[in-house]
Amino acid sequence: MTTEQDLAQASLQAILQTHQNQPGALLPILHDVQDALGFIPDWAVADIAKALNQSRAEVHGVITFYHHFRTTPPAQHTLQICQAEACQARGSRELTAHAEQVLGCSLHGQSADQRIGLEPVYCLGLCSTGPNIQLNDKMVSRVDAAKLDRLLASVKEAQ
Ligand code: FES
Repeated sequence: MTTEQDLAQASLQAILQTHQNQPGALLPILHDVQDALGFIPDWAVADIAKALNQSRAEVHGVITFYHHFRTTPPAQHTLQICQAEACQARGSRELTAHAEQVLGCSLHGQSADQRIGLEPVYCLGLCSTGPNIQLNDKMVSRVDAAKLDRLLASVKEAQ
């Protein structure tokens, strides 16, 4: 019987075969692993290091350098709050502080129930209508604390 771990391992091996002989293979491998598995598990770091003839510490160092890479499974939902200048001028810092308080986590973290991940985003292309957020695939403009609370409640109710 094929387990989820077997499938993940097979996926990793295919990714390694595709990239391992290319110069600068580490970042493409990490991107592909995260795309395939949703995050970069600890067990994969050893295989990636071995395939690239690097130490686990070197691979781990690259993973932790880039906020994009996750070492834990992603939350069910992702809330991105724009941190770029125009949205900051319209209150995104205060909105972010509110989200951090409500969710009980900082940017790049997850709510305690692991249902909502809080991430920064740097411009969603709607600068004149900020502060802007993206909740999963939906962009929403002119978000204040009350509007954010309603959006988060609707996501939780949809479970
Ligand atoms: S600055 Fe936030 S959408 Fe452009």
